[in-house]
Amino acid sequence: MDALDVLKAKYLDGIAAAGDEAALEEIRLAALGKKGEISLKMRELGKMTPEERQTVGKALNVLKDEIDAALRAKKTALADAALDARLAQEWLDVTLPGRPRRQGTIHPVSQVMDEVTAIFADMGFAVAEGPQVESDWYNFDALNIAPEHPARQEHDTFFMARDPADPRPPHVLRTHTSPVQIRAMQAQGAPIRVIAPGRVYRMDMDQTHTPMFHQVEGMAIGKDISMANLKWVLEEFCKAFFEVDNVELRFRASHFPFTEPSAEVDIRCSWEGGQLKIGEGNDWMEILGSGMMHPKVLEAGGIDPNEWQGFAFGMGIDRLAMLKYGIPDLRAFFESDLRWLRHYGFAALDLPTVFGGLSK
Ligand code: PHE
Repeated sequence: MDALDVLKAKYLDGIAAAGDEAALEEIRLAALGKKGEISLKMRELGKMTPEERQTVGKALNVLKDEIDAALRAKKTALADAALDARLAQEWLDVTLPGRPRRQGTIHPVSQVMDEVTAIFADMGFAVAEGPQVESDWYNFDALNIAPEHPARQEHDTFFMARDPADPRPPHVLRTHTSPVQIRAMQAQGAPIRVIAPGRVYRMDMDQTHTPMFHQVEGMAIGKDISMANLKWVLEEFCKAFFEVDNVELRFRASHFPFTEPSAEVDIRCSWEGGQLKIGEGNDWMEILGSGMMHPKVLEAGGIDPNEWQGFAFGMGIDRLAMLKYGIPDLRAFFESDLRWLRHYGFAALDLPTVFGGLSK
């Protein structure tokens, strides 16, 4: 074996044995680097006779190419092996079923909105919507709440910023879902039967109040709709929602600018042993505000009050959720604490229906 064969065997063996890219680079430098063994041998060509130079030079170039090719091949092989190792470690069986533990849950507020919507849909109510940033007119004036009306203060309104030079009243974050009454009347006319669930805002914060909360508005307008219809609809709703066969409602005279007459509605319940039971016992719990729509409100919605009449009601969705599912603190609803959501949340794929069951 001549000297070049010895070199060749040394480097090719080294390359074959190299375990990583750093080892390969070391070999490359030792052989082909500026001061590498092959490079030095190339430099010696100058001292040879022309004949020697031709044979040795050629042999050296062949050796250089061989080592170079072996280095590249090994580098690719190492990269492939690294990728294979990674793939072997990170494989994922996409045919496995999902892990229920990791599944998201439906927030109690969304659940109750779905339940309420299902119950009223069953009674022929469609869902209407309106914006959360509402004009002063829709939130107040159209609902017969004049600028100097005390109800405006009671609502603890959040006002949007407005250029002080602009004489128009600023927009507000809607303080109730009642403005959707006006929008729905304008959009659909009479007769009409809608509910409007959604977010509302008031400046208030304690165990039972948050600055953002949810209401559902209800409205039915026809030629002869009366308080009797209101009472029946609310009773049917409460039976279905609280999933009890009997409920008793008490209508208490009240006042809202947008209804006449107005009534707050209480439901018979018992709190024995700290446990709420609906439909029995000797306590009464207020659950909503309601009444016959004021003629001025019908007019604001573009409906002739001499021809049509209707009822409206509004109730707090969050409170309904707290009552039905025994959730003590309202503030936790909006803290996005995953442990809370997992505890109080609902299975994501179970849609509540009146016939299939609301909460189970
Ligand atoms: N908008 C009233 C509130 O927020 C509730 C209500 C709606 C009362 C409709 C009567 C009729 O308190």
